[in-house]
Amino acid sequence: MSLRLGNTAPDFTIDSTVGTIRFHDWLGDSWCFFFSHPADFTPVCTTEMGRTAQLSRQFAERNVKPLGLSTDSAAEHLRWIEDVNDTQNCQLEFPIVADENFEVAGLYDMIHPGESETAAVRSVFIIDPNKKIRLTMTYPMSVGRNFDEILRAIDALQASDKNGCAMPADWRAGDKVIIPPSISNEDAKGMFPNGWEELRPYLRLTEI
Ligand code: BEZ
Repeated sequence: MSLRLGNTAPDFTIDSTVGTIRFHDWLGDSWCFFFSHPADFTPVCTTEMGRTAQLSRQFAERNVKPLGLSTDSAAEHLRWIEDVNDTQNCQLEFPIVADENFEVAGLYDMIHPGESETAAVRSVFIIDPNKKIRLTMTYPMSVGRNFDEILRAIDALQASDKNGCAMPADWRAGDKVIIPPSISNEDAKGMFPNGWEELRPYLRLTEI
């Protein structure tokens, strides 16, 4: 059965570019951006790895550890990282899992035979410090992911956890947020001291 939002992210122990990773221990109290790739030395993947490395400060500011995966060996990954650094003008330091036997790809349902029998699709799992899966995305091999959206979604999840709010379409950090209908006006007064704009009784917007 595929993994669903709210499930505990399956734990695993596996080789990586920084040695053996025991996933839950490695994660500690951080969030995780766990993302898979079809293969090393491929063009779209090279740009995605580079973009993740370029955004290392933005991930760290959000207490997020990036973790890549592809189904090649750690030695191959390490050779590929040299190309990523050279071509994408970055210094890639986050680990890449070496899932040569598809163990983790199987656990996380990253092989979609309609795309490929032998390579992982571009899966994203955003995992919180309680090891719960909070958001998933799946992209085909031909389409690189949008890293603005990945950071935006992490911002939205973290702001929602902190404030009990929900985010409107295309929300970005700093925009107004939604007071969920499950929160009464009485309770909202304590939770959202800036007050709110009520477009409909079920659509209340506020600033956090
Ligand atoms: C790529 O990363 O460019 C790629 C990998 C596998 C299939 C298609 C594209």
